[in-house]
Amino acid sequence: MRADGTYLVTGGWGALGRITATLLARAGARHLVLLGRRAPNPVPAWIEELRAHDVEVVLREADVADDAAVGAVVREIAETLPPLRGVVHSAGTTDDAPLENLDRDRFDAVFAAKVRGAWHLHRHTRTLPLDFFVLFSSVASVLGSAGQANYVLANAYLDALATARRHEGLPALSLNWGPFDEAGIAVRGATTERLARAGLHGISESEGARALARALSADATQLALAKVDWQRYAAATVTTQPRTLLADFDPRFSATATEEPGTAEIERLACADPDAAEAALVRLLLRETAMLLDLEQADRRELEDDFAHARFDTLGLDSLMSVRLRNRLLRELSVAPPDRMLVDGSTVADVARDLSRRLAVRQLVAAPDGDEATGEVEVVRL
Ligand SMILES: NC(=O)c1ccc[n+]([C@@H]2O[C@H](COP(=O)([O-])OP(=O)(O)OC[C@H]3O[C@@H](n4cnc5c(N)ncnc54)[C@H](OP(=O)(O)O)[C@@H]3O)[C@@H](O)[C@H]2O)c1
Repeated sequence: MRADGTYLVTGGWGALGRITATLLARAGARHLVLLGRRAPNPVPAWIEELRAHDVEVVLREADVADDAAVGAVVREIAETLPPLRGVVHSAGTTDDAPLENLDRDRFDAVFAAKVRGAWHLHRHTRTLPLDFFVLFSSVASVLGSAGQANYVLANAYLDALATARRHEGLPALSLNWGPFDEAGIAVRGATTERLARAGLHGISESEGARALARALSADATQLALAKVDWQRYAAATVTTQPRTLLADFDPRFSATATEEPGTAEIERLACADPDAAEAALVRLLLRETAMLLDLEQADRRELEDDFAHARFDTLGLDSLMSVRLRNRLLRELSVAPPDRMLVDGSTVADVARDLSRRLAVRQLVAAPDGDEATGEVEVVRL
């Protein structure tokens, strides 16, 4: 960092803002502007400590979603501080909900800091000779994240903005952070435990600072910085669709490496070759059950042996897991077995047969009816 430059960190008193500001100061920055909507009161000890080490730390209250406010901060820096040399956009919020509960307002709420904020920062600094312009995105826009459609999109926008800036010859780096486990958005959202079960482990503050230092000196446009147990992640992720981005990490994500038919293929087989469809569904149920039960490889292999004939109610799924199983099947196949089948002594093969029939019925009902097909389908429960 240049001692004679200024560095702007939005979301500057948030968890990652603190890590960033501290790192920049350690790397030689002497003038920091931290921005957020409501300045912390009293001033946190870590800021006092930076000031005690001769770092000028200016706290500015501004909403990054407000174009004029961002413009005013950039002008103020130009008039009162050394030239702006770097921007780290860490301001962000979440508002998680299942897709069907997300309305326009909830998208806008999450887009405010990330999308609007990033755009305003881009516009107001694009003519300045910056050394870096870093956007704090999330691994959610790389891997997807259930219940966070608004957040995923907002972060995908940051990734795209970084690419667009690079095309213009401007500095840009989008960092897709994995969850941090000591403070910040993920901890407050109480998602760290759920994510860890799915293979996404929490990043500690010191790990985050080290990764950020390396990322700042890398010539990249987009970097994902996450602690992923790919084995676990693959097991916890429905993989009937190929995920080319991840295929290098685990062949189970690759369409060619896995023998597993995809959802569309299972649906086709449900009519054309029900036995094959049922066998594929048994394997899908095994994968889902092993993930929900958090099974090690050895236990999974043991379960695999006679899985088709195992009774569902003896597999060890509690009621919450059963709900999750049904939700995951609905998400993947758009059909699910009736609740009672998971508790009434039905075997896995029974459940697979039920699913296969539902897929077959759906395919028959949805099949376009000659040229007069209107695209409107009435689904009749038989
Ligand atoms: N922590 C994680 O696990 C994690 C993982 C992946 C990605 N990220 C990303 O990293 C960034 C920082 O996360 P964090 O954990 O440090 O969150 P945080 O502790 O909540 O800090 C975010 C800061 O942004 C500020 N902010 C929010 N909306 C703003 C707005 N419209 N204008 C100005 N400031 C605003 C907030 O301050 P005020 O309320 O005072 O405005 C807050 O201090 C976020 O963009 C997040 O998506 C974090």
